[in-house]
Amino acid sequence: MTSASGKVFLVGAGPGAADLLTLRAARLLAQADIVFHDALVHPDTLALAVNAKLVAVGKRCGRHSSTQQFINSSLVEAARRHACVVRLKGGDPLVFGRAQEEIDALTAAGLDYEVVPGVTAALGAAADLGVSLTRRGLSRSLALVTPRIGAEEAAGRGWIECARHADTLAIYMAREDATAVASALIAAGRAPSTPVTMVVNATLAGHTQAMGTTLAALGAAATEHLDGPAVILIGEVLAETVTGLGGGGLAALDARTGIQVRPCDPMDPAALALLRASDACMQALYPPESNHLIDPAALAQDQTLFLGAFDGARLVGCGAVRIMDDDGRYGEIKRMFVPPEARGRGAAKAILAMLERHLIDRGLRIARLETGIHQPEAIGLYSRLGFVERAPFGSYRPDPLSLFMEKRLDAPVP
Ligand SMILES: C[S@@+](CC[C@H](N)C(=O)[O-])C[C@H]1O[C@@H](n2cnc3c(N)ncnc32)[C@H](O)[C@@H]1O
Repeated sequence: MTSASGKVFLVGAGPGAADLLTLRAARLLAQADIVFHDALVHPDTLALAVNAKLVAVGKRCGRHSSTQQFINSSLVEAARRHACVVRLKGGDPLVFGRAQEEIDALTAAGLDYEVVPGVTAALGAAADLGVSLTRRGLSRSLALVTPRIGAEEAAGRGWIECARHADTLAIYMAREDATAVASALIAAGRAPSTPVTMVVNATLAGHTQAMGTTLAALGAAATEHLDGPAVILIGEVLAETVTGLGGGGLAALDARTGIQVRPCDPMDPAALALLRASDACMQALYPPESNHLIDPAALAQDQTLFLGAFDGARLVGCGAVRIMDDDGRYGEIKRMFVPPEARGRGAAKAILAMLERHLIDRGLRIARLETGIHQPEAIGLYSRLGFVERAPFGSYRPDPLSLFMEKRLDAPVP
């Protein structure tokens, strides 16, 4: 190492959120004379480099990965001219970051360097989901893998060998190859029903999207157009998340965490189109196989909306609303489902409010629902929320155990 030259810091910027930076990284950015940064580094992070010249490098900056050589030589050259050179990389520099090539170039040039770790994408995604990637009794191993082989790279030992044995997998740079990845994993012995969650824009609140599915359906799920980098998490530890996310298709925006979950299963194109078109901030398409409360046939009805309430990434309830009256005055709240563990946490109330809002948005003035005559808790809730008992519609022949309730919606009528 030459003391006359400066030092190069290979710094992890984390996967997205600017405040996931280490204090050391922030201090170095403030000191830096020049910063070579990846394309996806948050502007607020770059703003910490108050005195530095900023140089965008990396594929998404319009350069090809083959310009790694250019980056290597730029770092060497910069270290000869500046005291503090920062190479700022997304996530952690040592995880799929080509840091070793830069380290080798610096070492060969006799230059001093230091690595400052960052939060890697898989861990940011797990944090978004609130899911531990290791878990007692379920997962004792975690593999970070990628099927991607760079142009000038030897294939080496197949990633699938590692993926076959690890309990939990975090797969980087794989969205475009999701179908092949899933097939390879199934061929390698992973069950087609293995839970999978793909997280896009991890840690970027308001932009994060998570899709829960199974290995068998991963290919179809990954074709959903989602903008931003994606990491695919696979393994039994994701089971609850996937169930919560709908296990195959849903759309939701969780206001608390900013995770948006979108329809991902081609169960019913009409219903998915409807969900996409809807401006609901919380929506869910509940999977028929895990749901005996919402009739899958209703998915085909254009006028039916399915909405879900979320706690974090977990679905804590869902409901369906249908526009039913000839003159458009009535909307029917078809069904609501709140699992026992979510009761008493306001989920039912939240779902009702969402359902009502959708009726209001469509210019309907009366919400109507049907409930079981022997469901005092539900009847009590509806009464408290302004619903009153009404006779069924003239032509409708109700189940004798059904009770009909109505509420005038406090909506501006268009
Ligand atoms: C070249 S690798 C860099 C990985 C990075 N060094 C890290 O530790 O996260 C880029 C890949 O990381 C993943 N990735 C990076 N940021 C992400 C984010 N915010 N959300 C999801 N995946 C992300 C994607 O798989 C993307 O294709």
